Amino acid sequence: MTEQEPIYRGKAKSVFRSDNPDELIVKFRDDITAFDGAKKDELAEKGIYNARVSAYLFEYLRANGVPSHFVRMEDERTMIVRPLKMIPVEVIVRNIAAGSLVRNYPFEEGAPLDPPVIVLDYKDDARHDPMINEEIIVALGLMTADEIASVKKTALRINDLLRERIDEIGLDLVDFKLEFGRHGDEILLGDEISMDSMRLWDKKTRTSMDKDVYRFDKGDVMATYAAVAERLTGA
Ligand SMILES: Nc1ncnc2c1ncn2[C@@H]1O[C@H](COP(=O)(O)OP(=O)(O)OP(=O)(O)O)[C@@H](O)[C@H]1O
Ligand SMILES: [Mg+2]
Repeated sequence: MTEQEPIYRGKAKSVFRSDNPDELIVKFRDDITAFDGAKKDELAEKGIYNARVSAYLFEYLRANGVPSHFVRMEDERTMIVRPLKMIPVEVIVRNIAAGSLVRNYPFEEGAPLDPPVIVLDYKDDARHDPMINEEIIVALGLMTADEIASVKKTALRINDLLRERIDEIGLDLVDFKLEFGRHGDEILLGDEISMDSMRLWDKKTRTSMDKDVYRFDKGDVMATYAAVAERLTGA
């Protein structure tokens, strides 16, 4: 089924058409990249862990009233999703100051952010995903002001739900990135929610349990991804 050419090959996933016009096939590959693709590797099974965690969290969100593009898993690294017309805006929710927030603004790493801070980035690798604001999003015709408000509200609801679950496995949800897209006249949550897109810190040791382990050579990336998947999904 996935022997055909992908309609899109990203840095970590490939997207294929399926026989059903209302379903796309997303294959989570073992590629891992950081710093706009400047650092790249292939780590055996990485795609499986990200797919497993993503599917688990999409199902968890759905059970709590937040729909997404997720339809079902086809195999351990292949997800069937609703086809979305992606909106090139990354919706980032931050609960603790880290990463670019600390690099670009005078926050101390690890400082709690209460209420959470939403950051919007324009998704464009060639431009290095610059921060965007609501006026620019409207001026570019990417979303209306009402749509932005509704997406932000959904992002905060997702934050509450994810924090609750991630807290139970002894981790802090430091921040995470969401992507949304259009399906008919609805805007749905798309893409993935995984160790590539969330920043997770162990509550006791404050050590990273996410892609920062890869970015900054902090330890065994695959053991970390496997541990999060195991704690969250039991597999
Ligand atoms: N339901 C969906 N329908 C259509 N496209 C989707 C859907 N969900 C995610 N996508 C898109 O599929 C692609 C997934 O590939 P991937 O995440 O590897 O690439 P990328 O986002 O271009 O690169 P990177 O995430 O490394 O910046 C992304 O462009 C993402 O926006
Ligand atoms: Mg991506």
